Amino acid sequence: MSIDFAGWCKQVQSDMEQVLDRHLPPPSQVPARLHEAMRYAALDGGKRVRPLLAFAAGELFDAPRDAIERAAAAVEMIHVYSLVHDDMPCMDDDDLRRGKPTVHRCYDEATALLVGDALQAQAFEVLAGGELEAARRVAMLAQLARAAGSLGMCGGQAIDLDSVGVALSLSELEQMHRLKTGALLQAAVMLGALAGKTLQPTEHAALAAYAKAIGLAFQVVDDILDATADSATLGKTAGKDAANNKPTYVSLLGLAESLALAEKLRQDAHEALLPFGRGAERLRELADLIVQRKT
Ligand code: IPE
Ligand code: IPE
Ligand code: MG
Ligand code: MG
Ligand code: MG
Repeated sequence: MSIDFAGWCKQVQSDMEQVLDRHLPPPSQVPARLHEAMRYAALDGGKRVRPLLAFAAGELFDAPRDAIERAAAAVEMIHVYSLVHDDMPCMDDDDLRRGKPTVHRCYDEATALLVGDALQAQAFEVLAGGELEAARRVAMLAQLARAAGSLGMCGGQAIDLDSVGVALSLSELEQMHRLKTGALLQAAVMLGALAGKTLQPTEHAALAAYAKAIGLAFQVVDDILDATADSATLGKTAGKDAANNKPTYVSLLGLAESLALAEKLRQDAHEALLPFGRGAERLRELADLIVQRKT
């Protein structure tokens, strides 16, 4: 491992910009306005945490570069689509995303709807391509579909919308967070691994335990940052959860207990990686990043 973690992240983030650019239709292609809006949503912004996870897992299991890139781009496209729809007036009604006006603000609501739809389709097209054996690609497509659908992200978003003003129990809140955010983060890790050498059942279980822990931790920290950080730092409107009357870890447990839970999940993630030894250093560092991030 020749470069340090910060340098590795920078490299993956800049490579991802090119990978996404390559896998999105050119802005001049008809319908130009839709393609321009897809690129506005997906390019030049975001922390790229899901691609970083796919790269770290893919590199751990010696996956070919093109397969890692496709997995990373596909998960990021589903994620961006989820953000575009999440910000629409029918959902969280947000004006700011990744430091820019949201897609429905910059374009219009119908375009935002179609940007999400088209990014989702594009994600599956990207994942269906490439040189991996067909059975492997089908397994990856199924994994991403499951994570994105009603038993994953969309299901979590449905629970989120149904929970406005509702006092959820801790287990209901956990279920919502595991679905709306955890599922895609988990898919990022598992797709990266699936692109590489075949995992033993114990390796699969250990990696899934890691992915589950960081998936939940990510949304716990998102709730904390919504309550504690400012909009300029986040690049999205801070304080929206309280303003929209959403149940969150902060509203249910308070700040100190939420921070303690995030820290416990970070430790769970580290513990899950023990069987992989030093090779899993990037995944370990990503667990730290997810819990200790300020944005
Ligand atoms: C925000 O995700 C939405 C959640 C699922 C919590 P990120 O914090 O990863 O957003 P970007 O990709 O960096 O903009
Ligand atoms: C978003 O949760 C989850 C998805 C987009 C699937 P939030 O609504 O908390 O995300 P932010 O805070 O707007 O980024
Ligand atoms: Mg939301
Ligand atoms: Mg939101
Ligand atoms: Mg949030």
